[in-house]
Amino acid sequence: MTRFPAIVRRISKASVCIAIVCVFAFMVGRSKTSGSLRVPAVFAAASAAANPATPSPYAPSYTKNGDLVPPTQYREWIYLTSGLDMSYTPRTAAQGDMSVFDNVFVNPEAYHGFLATGQWPDKTVFVLESRNAANKGSINKAGHFQSGGVQGLEIHVKDEARFPGKWAFFDVASESKATLFPQTAACYSCHASHAAVDTTFVQFYPTLLPIAQKHATLSAAYLKESASDEAK
Ligand code: HEC
Repeated sequence: MTRFPAIVRRISKASVCIAIVCVFAFMVGRSKTSGSLRVPAVFAAASAAANPATPSPYAPSYTKNGDLVPPTQYREWIYLTSGLDMSYTPRTAAQGDMSVFDNVFVNPEAYHGFLATGQWPDKTVFVLESRNAANKGSINKAGHFQSGGVQGLEIHVKDEARFPGKWAFFDVASESKATLFPQTAACYSCHASHAAVDTTFVQFYPTLLPIAQKHATLSAAYLKESASDEAK
């Protein structure tokens, strides 16, 4: 399931090449003038190349047959959390020592809306990215780090006019297509009955839970569940 980021890899390869060419051009230019300016000028060129213009706002778009066009720029979005081996059922022997991280991102416009109100605006888009957890590599002697390519990408979109429950889930199948999970899929029922805010798992997003508490936007189901957890 590693095909999706190919386009991302191509883009970043191109920008690294551009950065190298820019730095080289600056060094050549500077070496003809004052030697003392050489180092700062090189840094300036490198940092300008590493900070491209702010990405344009993302709005979900769909293909003719209802698939979502995947947001290829999600790695430039707001990072919310990483979960390691999260599961709602006990670990089975078949899983062996396989370990997986998930990383959650949300589009910046939705994030800023949430900071202001504790609620997700229409056109909010989340990406859940999975990557293998490794423990052997480089200088690492204990603990886990993320290794290798993307193993899976799932998307949660709020599009009030389009979906019956306002939200829908998609699985990224290729760089141009993410397929819709039907409303009967387990994604909808688990998120609806256990997620803290509007079918999203804000209880696991440490910077956002206090915002939801402040604006009193936690769902009744979540409040009931956490009250009964505390009573145990
Ligand atoms: C049994 C419960 C459960 C089921 C079933 C489930 N999820 Fe989730 N989902 C979670 C939890 C818990 C998180 C928080 C992950 C974290 O904190 O890293 C989450 C987070 C997500 C997110 C990040 C945004 C958000 O809504 O908080 C996406 C996207 C997502 N899940 C997609 C899916 C898809 C697609 C399916 C169905 C194929 C699915 N999930 C099924 C529990 C579930």
